[in-house]
Amino acid sequence: MRSKIVAGNWKMNKNLDETRALINELVQKLPETSAEVMVAPTFVNLSEAVKSVAGSKVEVVAQNMHFEESGAFTGEIAPGMLKNIGVNTVILGHSERRAYFGETDTLLKKKVDRALAQGMRMIFCFGEELEDRKAGKHFDVVESQLRNALFHLPKEAWKHIVLAYEPVWAIGTGETASPEQAQEMHAFIRETITSGFGEEIAEAVTILYGGSVKPGNASEIFSKPDVDGGLIGGAALKADDFIGIINGI
Ligand code: 13P
Repeated sequence: MRSKIVAGNWKMNKNLDETRALINELVQKLPETSAEVMVAPTFVNLSEAVKSVAGSKVEVVAQNMHFEESGAFTGEIAPGMLKNIGVNTVILGHSERRAYFGETDTLLKKKVDRALAQGMRMIFCFGEELEDRKAGKHFDVVESQLRNALFHLPKEAWKHIVLAYEPVWAIGTGETASPEQAQEMHAFIRETITSGFGEEIAEAVTILYGGSVKPGNASEIFSKPDVDGGLIGGAALKADDFIGIINGI
């Protein structure tokens, strides 16, 4: 059985007080669930967030990291610094990092390698833009994002990798991929992983869907056989909404 995950990507939201309050509410109200539950607050609040989740099943994860371990990289965060404060999972390749901060497949490949060298787990994000889908190129785009950043890896690496398909046109827009569109792409992703690494690995890898998942649409999307959970933006910022989504798994 592959693990199911519901992860909240808080992006650049919530100050320290709000971070503590949201986590406390989440921990208090969290239902019994077989899914792993993760939250990704901003860097500056990670350390406190780790303290706030102590004793609960919520894991604190990072939204990004640098590909080097130390050095003259002003403003950057090294993976070892994350591990040192108890953060062992990192989101890599989010479309906002790709679009606004110039992260390319080549750069992401380096980050993937560094995360693995540190023994970290990663949620690797990818997905097509609206123009790609309109042009019928969405499968090609997704395949090349996977190939360029992940296909050099040894098979053992895959136990550290969670994939997150996030079509850019569905992020923060209120427009979701339909459950059928999500399933179609997730099945394609699993086939692509099968072609590179074999069926055993492809069947074991958790593939999350992200893009305007809400309490009202979560269970239908999560009911699809190749959708193993979600990476949630806006709806992760309210405990009740996030819990509504967790209940959909
Ligand atoms: P929304 O849920 O706000 O569309 O964001 C999705 C996302 O980008 C999660 O990483």
